[in-house]
Amino acid sequence: MKKKFFVTTPIYYPNDKLHIGHAYTTVLADYVNRYKKMQGFETMFLTGSDEHGQKIYEEAKKKNEDPLAFVTKIIDGFKKLWKEIDVDYDIFLRTTDKEHKKYVSDSFTDLQNKGFIYKSKYEDFYCKYDEAHFTKYQAKDGNCPVCKRELQKLSEDSYFLSISKYKDWIKNKLENSNILEPKSRVNELINNFINELSDLSISRTSFDWGIKIDNDNKHIIYVWLDALQNYLSALTYPESKFSVDEVWNKNSDVEILQFVGKEIIRFHCIYWPIILKMKDYRSPFVLAHGWLVSDDGDKMSKSKGNVVDPLDLIKLYDSDSLRFYLVNNISLGEDGKFSQNLLEDMINGILVNKYSNLVARTDAMVKKYFNGMVPKNNNDFRESKDLKIKLKELREKYFEKMDSYKFSDSTKILINYIEEINGFIDKTEPWKISGSKLEMVLNNLITEIFNVTLLFSSILVKTSNKVYNWLCINYIPTFEDFDKDFSNVKLGKIDFLFKRIPKEIKND
Ligand code: MSP
Repeated sequence: MKKKFFVTTPIYYPNDKLHIGHAYTTVLADYVNRYKKMQGFETMFLTGSDEHGQKIYEEAKKKNEDPLAFVTKIIDGFKKLWKEIDVDYDIFLRTTDKEHKKYVSDSFTDLQNKGFIYKSKYEDFYCKYDEAHFTKYQAKDGNCPVCKRELQKLSEDSYFLSISKYKDWIKNKLENSNILEPKSRVNELINNFINELSDLSISRTSFDWGIKIDNDNKHIIYVWLDALQNYLSALTYPESKFSVDEVWNKNSDVEILQFVGKEIIRFHCIYWPIILKMKDYRSPFVLAHGWLVSDDGDKMSKSKGNVVDPLDLIKLYDSDSLRFYLVNNISLGEDGKFSQNLLEDMINGILVNKYSNLVARTDAMVKKYFNGMVPKNNNDFRESKDLKIKLKELREKYFEKMDSYKFSDSTKILINYIEEINGFIDKTEPWKISGSKLEMVLNNLITEIFNVTLLFSSILVKTSNKVYNWLCINYIPTFEDFDKDFSNVKLGKIDFLFKRIPKEIKND
């Protein structure tokens, strides 16, 4: 039976179009999902939109629009972006979908019947921009500790989820099992949130844009209980490849990977495992990444007005370059800079100089010396054996990095791989040799370009298709095809895979 892999991104708020920070998380998820497919896994990739809540309700009201109509337009933009940047999800879940609403509503009743939910008064401070609540200790000066805007004091009837009784359980879980990486975040969570863990308010009566509570229609379910359960409800959709039980039961061997940005770790590594525990399911595995920051180190966010629209970048450059930058140039887990200048340096320095040039040089040589026909294989040369050993090692290293989720390290291995192939050309100087040695060099070059392209294909989606066309491959190759022999294949046409960006006409 095939091994199974379930990967998720946070579901994004549709209060405005997405920026490059959102593209970052989603491209990471797409990269690993494609890789797992190549490894022979049956995979499911879930993303979507988190549509309820006060902030979205108010945005829609400001524009005099019905909230659903308002978010639907924005979501069309999300889907357009995912298409353009080759994000190939299986389910795009909207929290307004009927399946999701039903799941959340039934789940409320179920948790209530099991005694995990009670009604009381809710009083605290709320930041509608961050959709976060703060205790009076956190809101010392009446301003939001995150965005510094003024907080609202709230007091209303509310249902509560009794999570505080799981304080020791979650602390122990965080300390002793592997639910969160990087590990450095675990202590932060324990120090900042677990010690003061109180029950979670899970309903509101002050607005009605949300999922209504069945027997108490004045209340709608407060966003995080609604949103987090998308990772369960999606598995009840007709198009879902996996079932809820298959993924979340305690003995499941489905590999789970949930990407989140660092500011929502708390919800995913405290509330979420506790909700799962209440349902008698297993805990998640969460991989937290840092933020994309502008050149001056500021988090990119809509409210700061310093966001970059990935669709503009794709128009100006191309989607593969952007995908590659996001995975390669941002160290996973840390904040990373984005600017057009840095993107251009990466394109010129890596994609053009190393990869595109390698393909162009090899294409020119096969066309010049063999009329475009790949010469036959002859492995008796020492140079060929050395190259193969070295590249096999790199391939193993690449798998090791990918399998341990070191995604930003994985691309460095691919760059080494290309450097080794370029080094092989410099060492063997094909323009000075002839006969079987020249045949060996060019045959090896083609095979290794194919091998490295296979490895790249999870990230450089459009580019790898161009290389496959050039090599006359008319199926979608997988890792089973490594070291394919291209003897006697007539190479097709190929344009430069990446074009050098002239730095002087850069538009800032
Ligand atoms: N709706 C919630 C998530 C619910 S999941 C059950 C939410 N939405 S969000 O649209 O505000 O953010 C979604 C994700 O985008 C978060 O993981 C967040 O960290 C990420 N990013 C937002 N700005 C970012 C950067 N500048 N850089 C990297 N990621 C960023 O939170």
